[in-house]
Amino acid sequence: MKLPKHVAIILDGNGRWAQEKGLSRSQGHQEGVKALVELIKYTNSIRLEELSVFAFSTENWSRPKTEVDYLMGLVEKGYKKYQKEIKDLGVKIKVVGEREMLKPEIQKIAQEVEDATKSNKGMNLNVCFSYGGKQELVRTFKKLEGKEITIKEIQNNLDINNDVDLLIRTGGNQRISNFLIWQLAYAELYFTDVYFPDFKKEDFDQAVLYYNNQERRFGGLK
Ligand code: IPE
Ligand code: IPE
Ligand code: MG
Repeated sequence: MKLPKHVAIILDGNGRWAQEKGLSRSQGHQEGVKALVELIKYTNSIRLEELSVFAFSTENWSRPKTEVDYLMGLVEKGYKKYQKEIKDLGVKIKVVGEREMLKPEIQKIAQEVEDATKSNKGMNLNVCFSYGGKQELVRTFKKLEGKEITIKEIQNNLDINNDVDLLIRTGGNQRISNFLIWQLAYAELYFTDVYFPDFKKEDFDQAVLYYNNQERRFGGLK
């Protein structure tokens, strides 16, 4: 089986996972973190080149403050708990999104994880946090002021430069929700009803199998 080079995943369904079990949404997010760590370990172990995870969108700032605060707290807790483990895995982490919207403590964590993993040789892991696809494009176009606008220039100046080969969205909805607008131009799209906390390596394999069954023509003919 062929592994896609760049997989992107929209981690959705934490809240519904919890609600269906009579738990709080917070507990769903807590389980989501565990599932994410397992996913990172697995994809790195099979030598995936690049994984982009959508963990918090620019639109998610509009959720109730209690939920937003909880999610930010999870980042701080998760950083403490998994810092060493993630570093030892050898993955190279990039935090992508509207950083200035994050509180200083989280901005500091983002900088620290990037610095601590920058010479790692494992999977490239893009953590999209406070991320919006349209916002990334605006930021990119601003960098190009005065230059000739070409596809190549735009691509080279994005935060995430590589096109996505396979997009996975958990949680049953079939939409992009302002994720990697540009990079998804020719991605294969895989939607599953599985809520993210229940998403296991077998589900990832299932998505890769789907990917392998697609004929990627890029507009040409086979
Ligand atoms: C995804 O789960 C995690 C974030 C967006 C932070 P949700 O919180 O969107 O869960 P549902 O979609 O309400 O079930
Ligand atoms: C998309 O999920 C964002 C993340 C998973 C981080 P949402 O739950 O926020 O998206 P909508 O509201 O269903 O579009
Ligand atoms: Mg959701």
